[in-house]
Amino acid sequence: MKRFKLSHIFMLMLLALAVAAGCTKEGPAGPQGTAGTDGTNGTDGTDGVDGNASCIQCHTLAKKEAVTAKYEMSTHFNSNMMYTGQTIYQYASEGPNRRSCAGCHSEQGFVEWQYTGELTYADTNGLQNAWPVSCVACHDMHSTLDFENDGTDYALRTTDPVELIMFTEMEPSQSVVLDMGGSSNLCVNCHQPRTPGPEIASADSFLIPSPYWGPHHGPHSTTLEGIGAFEIGAGYPEAGSSAHRTGASCTSCHMHSATANTDEQEGGHTWHTPISACTECHEDATDFNYKNIQNDVGDMMDQLKQKFIDNGMWNTESDQIIPGSYTLNQVGAYYNYLWILDDRSGGIHNPAYIKTMLINSIAVFN
Ligand code: HEC
Ligand code: HEC
Ligand code: HEC
Ligand code: HEC
Ligand code: HEC
Ligand code: HEC
Repeated sequence: MKRFKLSHIFMLMLLALAVAAGCTKEGPAGPQGTAGTDGTNGTDGTDGVDGNASCIQCHTLAKKEAVTAKYEMSTHFNSNMMYTGQTIYQYASEGPNRRSCAGCHSEQGFVEWQYTGELTYADTNGLQNAWPVSCVACHDMHSTLDFENDGTDYALRTTDPVELIMFTEMEPSQSVVLDMGGSSNLCVNCHQPRTPGPEIASADSFLIPSPYWGPHHGPHSTTLEGIGAFEIGAGYPEAGSSAHRTGASCTSCHMHSATANTDEQEGGHTWHTPISACTECHEDATDFNYKNIQNDVGDMMDQLKQKFIDNGMWNTESDQIIPGSYTLNQVGAYYNYLWILDDRSGGIHNPAYIKTMLINSIAVFN
């Protein structure tokens, strides 16, 4: 009985499987139905946007020629000449003593610095055949092509905030990272001082080792920010508070109206600031000597230099500082003098900061 029942159940299972399999089988196709009537025509859609429309704002031959023509009017391209008969970018790249210069002065040096993080050029002989700061120095690849959501991408080599050399050199634990935002961070890399001034309250005196000691030619970004000078005395504006820092930028002034005519010697890739960069905010400005700022700064620079002469710090024949030990404040005043000389904006980069530096530096000698 038991046996029969088991085999019976087995049979039933086989049967169930067969039925299940049979159920999934399709029958033969039925006869074709009659064709339906044609639908009405749709209305024409509006023309689509060319896939590359956003690209050809920048990527046309005409644009490239216009930008290149501007670039060829710039000092980045038309480097000044050295007494050696070399351009500055050749001079400040070649040979073992110039390994620390190539990073800011040449295309290859800057590219290497941005890849390795090392400002000092790796080749112990420095860089032969340096190129000027050109397209490939500043541009490499797009990070995004979704300009609508991510903002315009100018394919810049770097827009990262910059750890300033002078502060790290003074005290590595006190490094300062400057973020000017967007395109201007690119400029900060090279347009920053290299050498810090004497540290306030570090000692009674300080040695100026040679007539070439000083912050070096790039204090533009730190001036705009209002940091890093020898801040003796009081009255300095708060760091980063200047309206020229908060409301303008390196590129909004020096690359103003980037797409203007090619034969204009200003704006865009000439990096020569047009007056229109000022009149947006100062409607009555007709030149950079607005409210007499450049004359005032020039006068105070003359007064400060006279103090160096009067105090036996200046060689009037060579028109240079006499190397030697001076009080900390005297050296700081000289550091500020060089800073403003090298800034070369005549006060415009930060009117309040530069004026305060000058007033307080002159006061050191009174
Ligand atoms: C706001 C200006 C601008 C726009 C818009 C733009 N580009 Fe560029 N692009 C540049 C610049 C500047 C460079 C680098 C210099 C050069 O090559 O002229 C560059 C470089 C490139 C390069 C070579 C480097 C790389 O990233 O591989 C490609 C490819 C490129 N762009 C593709 C595009 C495409 C595709 C679009 C549209 C979706 C576009 N670009 C839109 C400015 C622009
Ligand atoms: C952190 C970047 C940086 C480094 C490093 C640097 N320079 Fe410069 N240098 C600049 C900038 C920016 C200018 C242009 C400033 C201007 O035109 O207002 C400049 C200008 C100069 C000038 C021209 C001065 C003039 O009056 O026209 C000389 C010469 C020079 N540098 C030599 C050197 C030498 C030599 C070294 C290495 C020992 C060096 N630089 C390292 C950024 C740098
Ligand atoms: C010193 C750095 C630097 C150099 C050198 C440079 N560019 Fe630019 N370029 C910039 C910056 C910064 C911007 C973005 C400007 C802005 O933010 O308004 C830009 C923008 C552009 C644009 C798009 C904006 C426009 O002008 O319409 C093009 C195209 C371009 N560069 C091409 C070139 C070419 C080609 C060269 C070489 C002939 C070159 N750049 C050299 C820094 C540089
Ligand atoms: C790779 C380093 C580097 C970068 C990045 C760079 N510069 Fe320069 N810049 C220099 C050097 C070096 C000089 C001096 C060139 C020479 O005389 O050989 C210079 C010269 C200049 C000058 C002309 C100074 C004069 O004597 O007429 C201006 C203005 C200027 N830069 C502004 C800018 C701005 C704005 C940016 C950012 C968009 C920028 N630079 C990015 C290195 C750089
Ligand atoms: C408010 C506008 C403004 C801003 C912001 C600004 N500059 Fe200037 N800059 C000027 C003017 C104006 C001069 C003086 C030009 C002259 O007298 O021909 C100048 C001078 C300079 C010079 C001296 C060479 C020259 O062109 O005569 C350099 C280099 C320079 N600026 C770089 C920079 C850098 C880098 C930044 C950003 C850190 C910056 N500037 C920010 C307006 C500005
Ligand atoms: C974004 C607006 C803006 C732009 C662009 C601008 N400035 Fe100014 N500027 C101001 C403001 C606001 C002040 C006063 C507050 C301050 O100094 O922070 C000022 C102050 C000044 C001062 C000091 C005035 C005084 O009474 O001591 C001078 C000089 C000056 N600007 C010149 C210029 C020049 C030259 C340019 C063009 C290269 C320029 N500015 C571009 C907004 C601007």
